[in-house]
Amino acid sequence: MTLQTPEDGRQRHLLTLDGLPRAAIVALLDRAQAFLDGHGGADPRRALDGIAVCTLFFEPSTRTRLSFQRAAQRLGADVLAFDASTSSTNKGETALDTLRNIEAMGVRGFIVRHRDDGAAAMLAAAARPGTAVVNAGDGRSAHPTQGLLDVLTLRQAKGGDFARRRVAIVGDIRHSRVARSGLHALRALGIGEVRACAPAALLPEDGLLEGCAVVDDLDAALEGVDAVFMLRLQRERMLEGLVPSLEAYHRDYGLTAARLRRAAPDAVVLHPGPMNRGVEISDEVADGPRSLVLKQVENGVAVRMAVLEALLA
Ligand code: NCD
Repeated sequence: MTLQTPEDGRQRHLLTLDGLPRAAIVALLDRAQAFLDGHGGADPRRALDGIAVCTLFFEPSTRTRLSFQRAAQRLGADVLAFDASTSSTNKGETALDTLRNIEAMGVRGFIVRHRDDGAAAMLAAAARPGTAVVNAGDGRSAHPTQGLLDVLTLRQAKGGDFARRRVAIVGDIRHSRVARSGLHALRALGIGEVRACAPAALLPEDGLLEGCAVVDDLDAALEGVDAVFMLRLQRERMLEGLVPSLEAYHRDYGLTAARLRRAAPDAVVLHPGPMNRGVEISDEVADGPRSLVLKQVENGVAVRMAVLEALLA
């Protein structure tokens, strides 16, 4: 049994999508869709009545943090926002001491973002028995709710028969927890084909892309695909200059409207945000009719409601 699912089989934390059964993923997607369709049950605003959750973010965030807060509010939870930049983290307090102190205030749910791989799992292992930890992004490792909202967005656009779908994942795969969790979700749902496209320096060094076609040429990678998952160039995670220049990166790996014509006529474009406009994606594509970027954000709230409800209600 993993830390996510202890002996009694009830999911306690959400740390990764790696190894999460297809049925568990589909159940969360279905529940999120029910919230979106207004079929959330008797009164979803009371599901987390009296329960306090804290967004424990040690790295910057706009969408993930606010959408978790919005999701928790919509379920009736009390929401505390911790911001590392204005906290005692600046005095050297550890993440674990921070969690223990907020736990002592009666908070039961922690939504954790941290630059270190494994940080959310470390906190989950040390948390009190009744505490739930949701990984909202740890280093390059995992961002499970982003993976879920991405496949929900794809399912809405293209239907649930993932085996018939071809997807291209383009950009800084090496540093991307979004790509990692997205791949785990797509595989669990039986995706037909995944093409990975990145300069060699931005390909992952482990076995993440096993079973994917690695295609260096963006035009070739886009040929006939149903969806393009674009990734942000993670400059803050690069110790050395892995790309020669932003102009060169845009020329070779930037998604433009002209390039998108190679994809299937009704292909959709996803990007987790924040977008580097003019680098990995052009304005025309980001704001164009194929872009599902804001739909992803809307779906993010519903997915996070489903996750918080499953762990805490
Ligand atoms: C992503 C992240 O922080 O991992 N953003 C997000 O959560 N929507 C992707 C990124 O920062 O590039």
